[in-house]
Amino acid sequence: MNNNRKNKKVYITTPIFYPNAELHLGSTHTLSIADFLTRAFRTIGYDVFFLTGTDEHCEKVEKAAAKKSMLVQNFVDEIVDSFKMNIKKIDIEYDRFLRTSDDDHKQKVQEFWKYLEKKQLIYKGKYEGYYSVADETFFKESDLIDGKAPTGAEVRKESVDAYFFKCSQFQSKLEELFEKDFTTPKNRINELKGYISEGLFDLCISRKNTGWGIPVPNDEQYLVYVWFDALTNYFNACDTEELKEYWNGRVIHIVGKDIAVFHGVFWPVMLMASDRKMFDDLLVHNWWLVKEEKMSKSKGNVISPSEIIAKYSANLLRFYCIKENLIKNDGSFDEKKMIDDFNAFAVGKFSNLVYRLWTILHRNDISIQSIGEKTTDIEARIIDAIENLDINDYFDAIFNWCDSLNQRIEHHKAWKDVEIAKTLFSEMKVLIKYFEPIFPSIQGILNSETPQIIFHSIKTANE
Ligand code: MSP
Repeated sequence: MNNNRKNKKVYITTPIFYPNAELHLGSTHTLSIADFLTRAFRTIGYDVFFLTGTDEHCEKVEKAAAKKSMLVQNFVDEIVDSFKMNIKKIDIEYDRFLRTSDDDHKQKVQEFWKYLEKKQLIYKGKYEGYYSVADETFFKESDLIDGKAPTGAEVRKESVDAYFFKCSQFQSKLEELFEKDFTTPKNRINELKGYISEGLFDLCISRKNTGWGIPVPNDEQYLVYVWFDALTNYFNACDTEELKEYWNGRVIHIVGKDIAVFHGVFWPVMLMASDRKMFDDLLVHNWWLVKEEKMSKSKGNVISPSEIIAKYSANLLRFYCIKENLIKNDGSFDEKKMIDDFNAFAVGKFSNLVYRLWTILHRNDISIQSIGEKTTDIEARIIDAIENLDINDYFDAIFNWCDSLNQRIEHHKAWKDVEIAKTLFSEMKVLIKYFEPIFPSIQGILNSETPQIIFHSIKTANE
């Protein structure tokens, strides 16, 4: 898996989002991390394709449309427009926004189904169990906790004819795969191992045709189960002559922990079954919590990214998501902490440093355009952090570099020694490149003739 590191093509994906309600801070978290990594890989010379999109063929979307008395297609079209607008406000730039209602995707899902059917990996049987619409997931009786899904969502009992995918055949191949080191953080693999420890079961992959979804080939009474449709989006999006090299490059899926099993167990099996190359990395983050509970649309406790941006700025939101990143732990959203951290780091350590050094040079009539770039060991550490998907180390490294420059300004009294100021500025030119993936809006800042204040301190709304 990770032996694909030196491949200069990188393919970064987010999960595709259910368009049943507006995106909240939790959903945009995956997007912010993915956009940041895309830009960071590009900075160090990789050719990156960044995919996101919407997962439309599910019951919760049908229900949300019905609640508004809208046709499902019109309902999702409206939400998708608004998703795209809100994503843009966070300076997120994807290469493709795949909708599972896109024709090319629908066709490829049916081809995928037919391929597995031909290999006799799909059969018809009877599904007896429970279904949670909130999770769009099937559960066994033994999974339930007090009659509910493990997530606390309501379930309904089902006893229906359905199609199944023979996952169970892939147990040993999957165990072999689990010996490879493909999750970030590394210990995430233990959950996946735990999930299959009692044996993989065959996955129910169809539901009754309600008129909204992708019909099962040659049996239009059924639709393809939403996850079986959705997971293939990653492959389908670059299944063209022009883009297939990205799938052959380093494929990095970024997901929240609630969907790690779908991506770490069922998706690899689907790839094995269809004789496709495996993805390379699964980067899993934890959750934004509000008062100890997962922030989620169904709980109605969501924080709106658009509101934060309207009140403050996209830079602040991106900074907070990337600093907190949630790779190690869940995080409690805290507006005051977000602002304090931005003021301490982005303003105090970074922006002030740029302004200070630039002003020294300007006062001495030195054009910053005449100054070259000078690297240090810290750049090598940053490059490693990107390639290891280690966002915490990236963050520490860029701010250590700021600290080091600030200390050297003081130590060498750079305001009295223009040669020192020039040397420090040449390092800072390199460093600024690594701030751009966090703050895309600062690109080109050094084109100005006069010293710029990149960020001003932010006051909280109550100050
Ligand atoms: N549609 C599926 C994914 C299919 S991918 C083939 C889905 N969609 S979702 O809209 O519910 O979630 C999308 C992403 O948002 C997931 O990575 C999920 O973990 C993330 N988040 C949703 N709520 C979250 C928090 N409260 N905190 C952080 N991220 C969480 O799942």
